[in-house]
Amino acid sequence: METIEKQCVISEFPEIVAFKEYYDTTVTNKTTYFKVNEGIARGRVVIKGEEKVNYSTYNYLGLTADPRVIEFTKDAIEKHGTSVSGSRILTGEIELHRMLERQIADFLGVDDSVVFVGGHCTNVNLIGNIVDDKDLVIHDAYAHNSIVQGAILSHAKRMHFNHNDMADLEKKLKRLRDKYRRVLIVAEGIYSMDGDICNLPELIRIKKQYQAILMVDEAHSFGTIGDHGRGVTSHFGVDPKDVDILMGTLSKSAASCGGYIAGNKDFIWYLRRNSPGFVFSCGLSPANTAAAYKAIEIFSNDSSKIDKLHENAAYFLKSVSELGYNTGLSEGTSIVPVIIGNSQKTVYISNELYKRGINALPIIYPAVKEDEARIRFFMSADHTREDLDKTINALRELR
Ligand SMILES: Cc1ncc(COP(=O)(O)O)c(C=O)c1O
Repeated sequence: METIEKQCVISEFPEIVAFKEYYDTTVTNKTTYFKVNEGIARGRVVIKGEEKVNYSTYNYLGLTADPRVIEFTKDAIEKHGTSVSGSRILTGEIELHRMLERQIADFLGVDDSVVFVGGHCTNVNLIGNIVDDKDLVIHDAYAHNSIVQGAILSHAKRMHFNHNDMADLEKKLKRLRDKYRRVLIVAEGIYSMDGDICNLPELIRIKKQYQAILMVDEAHSFGTIGDHGRGVTSHFGVDPKDVDILMGTLSKSAASCGGYIAGNKDFIWYLRRNSPGFVFSCGLSPANTAAAYKAIEIFSNDSSKIDKLHENAAYFLKSVSELGYNTGLSEGTSIVPVIIGNSQKTVYISNELYKRGINALPIIYPAVKEDEARIRFFMSADHTREDLDKTINALRELR
């Protein structure tokens, strides 16, 4: 039993002391994380005055640097200032919010959508808003932290099914469905650790058969797969309305910050008036709203950047796996992991890549299991063949 004295000094909490010790011995190079980007982080980035090929940004389509996005965003700031300074329900609504929400819903082929100020808080809010202790949340084993946190805070019973294993999901639902009022199944369009795609047709079949609700997080699939980036429903050619809740972030292909929930009109109407993170929180800033609106407009009219992203990712995946690296389950659309399987070695290789002009960050325990420690390559439409070959050559040297 820890002494009471230790439990009232935050800096002496045992978990803080233990994590600091682990971190200091594993991340020996203190500049591995929290690097400061100079200028815009896209296919290349300048850090401490040196240009690096960059694989550590979610800027899949490079649109954060697009002059049309920047111009439209500047105009929004001129017109509405830097903040809407209040909850939309009371004081903070601007026409751009409505334009963005209409645009997302039309683009995805559903009734309506609502935007929140962060992707993470979108999941936490949404899950906490629709299930409680009478319900079950069953999510993929690789689910993002925001899904897990939302489920924990909702007080629903939480469990996972094995990664992308539809037989496991079905087995669990067969056993458990009757014990709960609602069952919420949560999957992701593209999984962010491995870059593989969920089995959406099976998820839809199972959710219908077991009378569950299906939510799909499209953080990494919105703007990267499907017709013009319409995401995973378009990728599989299924009716978007068969997914009860489509969630996505604005921080990746959409060149902004924030999250959306899209789906049935009555449900979205309810969220706009009841979701705590919407009602009791400031509306999305004019700049973030405008940037997302223009970015979505660009890729919904012209898919050339998405095509380039796929070409780059497929080339990189093929080349790196030919070198003998374990690239996990990646399907080569936007994310390629290089699984090293040991945190210290992963950090070492990342640092060596950095010395060779490549910024690709290590993902180590506790973000993943120790034997799944990896360097994660976020691909971009901005990468040139020269950038990719430079990286492949460096990985060959470090093999
Ligand atoms: C699957 C998934 N959901 C939600 C989020 C949170 O999004 P944001 O970073 O926009 O808050 C992320 C972030 O990377 C993610 O990967």
